[in-house]
This record gives sequence, structure tokens and C-alpha cells, in this order.
Amino acid sequence: MRTETVSTDALFETSLLEDGVQGVIGKATSRIDGPLKVSGTATYSAEYDIAGAAHGYLVLATVARATVTSLDDADARKVPGVLDIFTSEKFLPHTNQPGQTEEPKAPNKHVLYAGQPIALVVAETFEAARDAAHRLRPVYAELPATTGFDAGTAEKPKDSQIAAHASQGDIEKAMGDAAVTLDFTYTTPSQNSVAMEPHTTIAEWKGDELTLHCSMQMLKTDRQQLAKALGIDKEKIRLISPYVGGGFGSKLFASPEMVACSLAAKELGRPIKTVMTRQQVFECTVRRSNTQQRIRLGATAEGKLLAIGHDSLSSNLPGEGFFEPCGIATHFLYAGQHRHINHDVVHLNWTLAGSMRAPGEGAGMLALECAMDEMAEKLDLDPIAFRKLNEPKRDPEKDIPYSTRQLVRCMDEGAERFGWARRTAPAQRREGEWFVGIGMAAAARANRMMQAKARVTLKPDGTALVETDMTDIGTGTYTILAQIAGEMLGLPIEMVDVHLGDTNLPEAAGSGGSFGASSSGSAVYVACQAIREALCEKMSCEADDLTLKDGRAIAGNRAVDLGTLAGDGLAAEGEIKPGKNDEVYSQGSYGAHFAEVAVNAVTGEVRVRRMLGVFAAGRILNLKTARSQCIGGMTFGIGAALEEALEHDPRTGRLVNHDLAEYHVPVNADVPQIEVAFVDERDTAANPLQSKGIGELGISGAGAAIANAVYNACGVRVRDYPLTLDKILGGLPPV
Ligand code: MOS
Repeated sequence: MRTETVSTDALFETSLLEDGVQGVIGKATSRIDGPLKVSGTATYSAEYDIAGAAHGYLVLATVARATVTSLDDADARKVPGVLDIFTSEKFLPHTNQPGQTEEPKAPNKHVLYAGQPIALVVAETFEAARDAAHRLRPVYAELPATTGFDAGTAEKPKDSQIAAHASQGDIEKAMGDAAVTLDFTYTTPSQNSVAMEPHTTIAEWKGDELTLHCSMQMLKTDRQQLAKALGIDKEKIRLISPYVGGGFGSKLFASPEMVACSLAAKELGRPIKTVMTRQQVFECTVRRSNTQQRIRLGATAEGKLLAIGHDSLSSNLPGEGFFEPCGIATHFLYAGQHRHINHDVVHLNWTLAGSMRAPGEGAGMLALECAMDEMAEKLDLDPIAFRKLNEPKRDPEKDIPYSTRQLVRCMDEGAERFGWARRTAPAQRREGEWFVGIGMAAAARANRMMQAKARVTLKPDGTALVETDMTDIGTGTYTILAQIAGEMLGLPIEMVDVHLGDTNLPEAAGSGGSFGASSSGSAVYVACQAIREALCEKMSCEADDLTLKDGRAIAGNRAVDLGTLAGDGLAAEGEIKPGKNDEVYSQGSYGAHFAEVAVNAVTGEVRVRRMLGVFAAGRILNLKTARSQCIGGMTFGIGAALEEALEHDPRTGRLVNHDLAEYHVPVNADVPQIEVAFVDERDTAANPLQSKGIGELGISGAGAAIANAVYNACGVRVRDYPLTLDKILGGLPPV
């Protein structure tokens, strides 16, 4: 089999996708897995019928910090159908976050948060396992717990992390010298990813080989972590996860039920299926940390930024290295010579904090982009004009060029489409009992590319098969990979079969950090390039003379069916590796968010009326799925701005709102008309596809546009997200 590896070390000035004769790439194409999903025939992990499978049910700690001294299981074992109760120290790991390949932490019998798994009950039915779980009587020796967020206890995080701290120039002096300054603190609450499909594992051993049906985002990494947790070779483990009902970060790393289920299945000698309840998803999968963010801006009277400061606090369990990297976008978004970006962490006994929906920008831009709006007002500048004044020519910290950066164009196009010129001063527009206003914010998300492999096979029947362990978490991976292969091989997408979500297939990086499409897509591109080379040899032609179209290879006056050229099957493996371009260019995707809201003058209730996002993210691989990604992100922007907040009881550290009745996410009634537009772009530094990450761009900044619109509507500035009516009401004029 041919293999080909490409690193991102040089510019990809041309792409074979550019003059693709098929017109498949970029086209607004419905998801090819859509019919399976709407007809209920796409099999999700919990739906596999594994012969002889027993059912596991996680038992979660009900105290915030303790040692489990004993576990009285006499009553539990009397429940008919109970097979066993596993409480071994090994069964207590919680999801790991910081290291890609570290094993999940096993805090053994030491409980660090309410919701930490302490046992797995296994029974013939789910109901029996659940019943028995509720009859277990754990005995805790409780220890003093930190159950409330106290900024005064913040410490330097232990582990360094991407995009952490930066200090340049002298921010204190620059703030002193500036004609106009801002120094405000913003807070955002803890959140849960609330993927529609709960976390699920079916573990089945055959001898020393373990197969898991699971719902995970990054199979390569998950397999490595699980292997370390179990102390076995990763080659002995197979993860199968072809359909994933959303992840949003909570399924990036090996999850608690994966490990418990695998160990218990081995001991019991039967396959075990463990499905989390919604409450368990809330209590023991990662939360996005709450944050407290101090933003300092200092500018000349004309509005040129001299100083940018972003000091943020987030929280996590004692001993954890992960912190919410709020300052990621602050590093590269605006000019300003004196810069200070810092992250500290408060350790407390709440659920593990980790990556969720644009970790960093998702929370950080709620503060930064609100501050930019407030600073524009102080300077008596239009918020867009203020941002344009501070548009950097090069990355202001690394002093390297941007590969592409079309923030200004996105703001201009958005302003035009949205009717920005009609914006009034705050609290000037009234419709009956509603104040109406508009606001905007920048969108930005750092672009990442990961190593990925894919295999493409041209089959004797003239169809193509694409294989990789990449996942499709509802994003459209199946479809875009079919489009890339189709465009490269001259096939309609109906003739491209895509197999994903199986660690038996070539390793990709998985779905995370908005790197999935570009990374796995580039691997498919490289594999197809190798196939094209093989076809050139068979056609005895130069690469430039080969045209692949309608299932045929055409060179000179000859046209041959691809199936004929494929012989017994023509396979190639492609690999993409991150190279120098990552350091030589500042790579990010950009955009502009616009929102119109109405604030009820009597109740303070906020209704989002319309939103527009204009984005530039390199080549758009599929107009429809890209747009859907952005709409999803913007919808969660509504959640961040107005609704979502995990509430921990400060007395016990327990979650008060651990279900979708009490934890509010935007529902259809909350989501107005959302429009998405893309600015034409090719990023020649990013990868051979010239594409960039888009999944998390839509949320980055979206909530701030809404908060800014609320201020414009009613003149009340709230710096404590979410903007619930109780925080707005007091600032409204008397009725
Ligand atoms: Mo994303 S928070 O990397 O799934």
C-alpha cells in the first residue's frame, strides 16, 4: 500500500480542491448520515445488543470530601437480579483532563467532590442495578471540604498549558499613562456540556482483548488512556464509536464509566453496559469552570490601546492542572504594546473542570468583548470603529504574521447586513413595554492542526472507501470526508463510503478543539493524492494531465473507468503532521457577531430577536454543515449570555440543578432567526485543504454580543453572567 505524509512546513499555495472539476467540495450538502439518524437506524453506543450483557449503574458520592470507610451492601445485594457490586479502589477514577495520554486519575477511596463515582452496581437489568445502587449505604469519614469559590485562595496553576501567561512591557505604567482606562471584573458560572446522548459504555472481553462500544470524541487518546488505566497494551483494546450524540468537550477524555465498566466486565466474566443518567452526566462529567476575569484596558484619547490586561481565575479540584485558559484570544486579538495575561486557579471540591465548548474563548471573550464595548463608550467611539483602530498588522505578542485575518471585513459585512448604522444610544428605542437594542462582538478562535491518518481505497466497482478512527459527533464529518475524497477522485459523494469511529482504522486526532475537520480531512486529501499518483502511473501521464471526473480517469484522448484502473483495489494511506507553519504564522479563525435583543421594561426579561454571525475560517468544506456548526455555537452563546449556570450548594458542594429542567439551555423558543454568512478565504498556511477550525468559532464572542445588546437596549450593564432578569431589573427605570 502506498503511504504519503505531508507536514505543514510550507505554504499550500495551490490545492487540488481548487480546480476540482466535480464541484463537490464546499457545496451545501446534507449530512449523508442524516437519513440513518432521522429513521432511528444509526446505532448509538447504548443501542448495541451484546449477547449476555449485564447492566452497570454508577454510584456517586453524596459528600464533597471524605474517605469511604465502608460500603454496607447487604440490602443492595438482596435486590433480585443483582450480580455484583464493585468497589475496588480501581473503580474510582474520574475523567482525566490535562494530559493527552495520561491514565485517568484514581483517587481511590478518597472522595474529592460530590458526584465522584465510588462504586458500580451490576445487575441483570438497568432497573435492578439502579434500585440496588440506591440501597447501598456508604459510610463516609467526612473531611473539611471547600465548597464555595473564594477568589482569595487563588494559586498559580501547577501545569503550564497552551496559551497560558504572557507579560510584555509595563502594564501598570501604561495604565497610568493612558488617557482613558477601564478596569472591570466579569464573572461567568460553571456550566455543563449537556450533550444530548448521555455517556455510555458497553465493555466486552474476549480473552485478554477488550472491545468497547462507547460515545467518545477522540478514540486514539481515549484508547491510550484506558490502556494505562487498565495496565494493558493499547493494541488489546478496540473502541467503537461510529455515532456520537454530541460531546462539547465532555467526551474528549476517558470517562469514569469506561474504566469502571471495563474492570467490572473482566471480573464478572460478562459484557457490561453502563449508561449514565442525565443527573450523573451533570455530576460526574467535566464542567466548564466558573471564572472571575479582571480586564484592564488603557488607551490614548483617540482610542489607540496602550495596555491590555486579562487576569482570570477559574476553579478545579485540588491537584488538577487544568485551568480555563480565558486569555487565549486576548493574546492575539488586538494591538497594544503593554500586555499582561495571567491565569490563576482556585482549588475546591466541585466536579472536575475541563474543556467545554471553546475552552478559553468560550468564557474569556464574554469578558474581553464586553470590556471592548464598555471602553468604546468611554472613548465615545463606535464599537466597530474602536476595534478597527486596534487592528494589529502582526501578532502583537509573537511578532509573527497572521496567516489570514479578516476580522475587519467580517465586521464591515456584518454591520451592513445587520443594519448597524441604525443603532441608537442606550435605552433610546422602545416598542411598547420592550426596550430594543443591538450589540456586536468579535469572534476569534485559535486554529489548531493535529496529526492524523486516513486510508482511502479505490475499489474494483469504481467506488471509494474512506477509513479513519475520526469521529462524527454530529458535526458532519462523514459528509465532508466524502466530499474531499469525491472531489479528489472525481466521484460523486454517493460513490464514497466513509467508515469512522473504530480504533481498528488509521488513527486520527478525533473531534476536539475545532481541529477535527482540517486534520482528518487533510489526511484523506493526502491519501487521495497518493491514489492520484498511482493512477498517473497506470495512465502513463503526468499529474498535470490527469483529470478525474464522473468516475473516470482522463488523460490526453484516453478515458478509463476508475474501477478498471483500481484492479483488485487500490489503497493508500495519508498522514498529515503539524509542522513549522504553526509557529511561523499566527493562525486563527475570525468573525463578527451581531445581536438584537428586547428587554422587558417591567420584568427585565431578555428576548433575543435576531443574530447574525459573519465568519472567515479558511475554505468552507460544506456550506451547510459549516453553517449548522456556527448556528449551534451561536445558540450556546445565548445559553452563556442568558441561561446556563451550574449552582453548587455552598454548604455541601452538591449540585442543585443537575438536570435539564433546572439547568437551562436554549430551547427553540429562545432561539430567534440566526443568520450565518461566510467571507471567502483560503488559508495557505493551515493545511492542504486551506481550511481552518469552525466548530467553536460560533460561540466565541457570541454571548458578549448579546450582553452588549442588552446594554444598548436598556442601559443596564451586567458583568455577572448569565444576564438573568434579577440582575437587570434593579437597573431599569421605575415603571
Ligand atoms: Mo472541544 S471543548 O475540544 O470538544
